[in-house]
Amino acid sequence: MMQYVKLNRAHNRIAFDCGVESLNHFLKNVAREEADRDLGVTYVATRDGVSISGYYTLASYSVQGEVFPPSLKFSATRAIPVTLLGKLAVDTSLHGQGFGAQLLFQALYDCQRVADIAGSNAVVVDALKNAVPFYKKYGFLPLTDNESHLYLTLKTIRKMQLRPTYETQ
Ligand SMILES: CC(C)(COP(=O)(O)OP(=O)(O)OC[C@H]1O[C@@H](n2cnc3c(N)ncnc32)[C@H](O)[C@@H]1OP(=O)(O)O)[C@@H](O)C(=O)NCCC(=O)NCCS
Repeated sequence: MMQYVKLNRAHNRIAFDCGVESLNHFLKNVAREEADRDLGVTYVATRDGVSISGYYTLASYSVQGEVFPPSLKFSATRAIPVTLLGKLAVDTSLHGQGFGAQLLFQALYDCQRVADIAGSNAVVVDALKNAVPFYKKYGFLPLTDNESHLYLTLKTIRKMQLRPTYETQ
């Protein structure tokens, strides 16, 4: 049974390998300190409470209105509150089995809960180039400043009616 929990000391960070060294490094060496400093919270997917099948990191963020497409009609100078999906990675042993999508949906569900409490217009990802098509498959669209800078509005996420089996703890 897969559980989604905040990264803690019990998790085996050393064994995790998603195939991208910077994302392995972040999990092993940076994620816990970021959480301690309230700069970002990392959640891991784990079956046994020790091994890590995947992880994602969320943080509060803002994007200037002018960076969104004009169709969203934001004032250019307004800082639009969003949630940053700062990291998302799956262990290579699970690639290509639909788990990345499941992890993304769990992250989006969490972002919806954040938006319900504090207001957040969209989820934003600064995607690695080779992962851009993965996010676009689920409706993410490019912001105007960079083709790897993607957003998905909360309006769209709510329409997805996400119902994860397990609440993130
Ligand atoms: C990107 C990543 C999370 C995808 O996870 P995954 O478990 O392999 O993906 P899934 O099996 O859930 O794939 C879901 C769908 O997305 C597609 N997909 C997955 N990765 C893709 C990619 N890089 N480009 C295009 N499509 C992709 C799959 O083909 C699948 O489509 P289908 O439903 O039509 O068959 C994973 O490859 C990973 O961790 N990569 C290394 C870290 C990384 O790049 N993270 C993104 C940081 S921004």
